[in-house]
Amino acid sequence: MSLLDFLSSKITVEKAALYNGLIDYHSHILPNVDDGVKTIEESLAILSLYESWGVKEIYCTPHIMEDIPNTSSDLKERFSTLQQAYSGSIQLHLAAEYMIDMLFTERLNSKDLLPLGNDHLLVETSYFSAPSYFYSVIDAIKSEGLWVVLAHPERYTYMKEKDYIRLKEQGIKFQLNLHSLWGAYGSSAQTKAEQLLSKGMYDICGTDIHHIDNQTPQQRVHKNCLNAYHIMSL
Ligand SMILES: [Fe+2]
Repeated sequence: MSLLDFLSSKITVEKAALYNGLIDYHSHILPNVDDGVKTIEESLAILSLYESWGVKEIYCTPHIMEDIPNTSSDLKERFSTLQQAYSGSIQLHLAAEYMIDMLFTERLNSKDLLPLGNDHLLVETSYFSAPSYFYSVIDAIKSEGLWVVLAHPERYTYMKEKDYIRLKEQGIKFQLNLHSLWGAYGSSAQTKAEQLLSKGMYDICGTDIHHIDNQTPQQRVHKNCLNAYHIMSL
């Protein structure tokens, strides 16, 4: 480390080795199913880049919501195509990112779900407000014997400290978007991410990558928030 790096309050993603050994629990690299990657060539390019950064496992977590009503069977088929096309070292998994809406309630009731690992569900709400039935849906998920993982809690503008505490008290797991640590979603999400990380409130990490991004290694993150960072897994 150079003297400049030593004295600076920030360090690059590359020097902090944030991706080395990473299990990326949130990505949109399954091609052409949502607002993420559009072609298999781009998926493979991202996987190749991630291999060079030391990523160990990636969960493909396409959106499932009323506006993007992907079916489990179609996603499984497309995932199998991606698996066949990829021959690198990263372990690939399929799950989904569920918006808490009426379609999700239908899928939950019919037990038609793509969990994260064996018994976790990755869910999100709108960035601006949660539906009135948010907490009752959380209870319904738990009553199915599943853990709730809230995607990128730092990005919800309506969530304040008391909301995060309430969610943690209810056993909700939090997934950090790594890009939040260098302000990719604005300064408010960055500050919240740094605070939640330093309080040890995150359970897992994800990139939430939607497109190839070669800039990541040179992004700069605050060193002090990284004291709490480690490779997290379920
Ligand atoms: Fe996402």
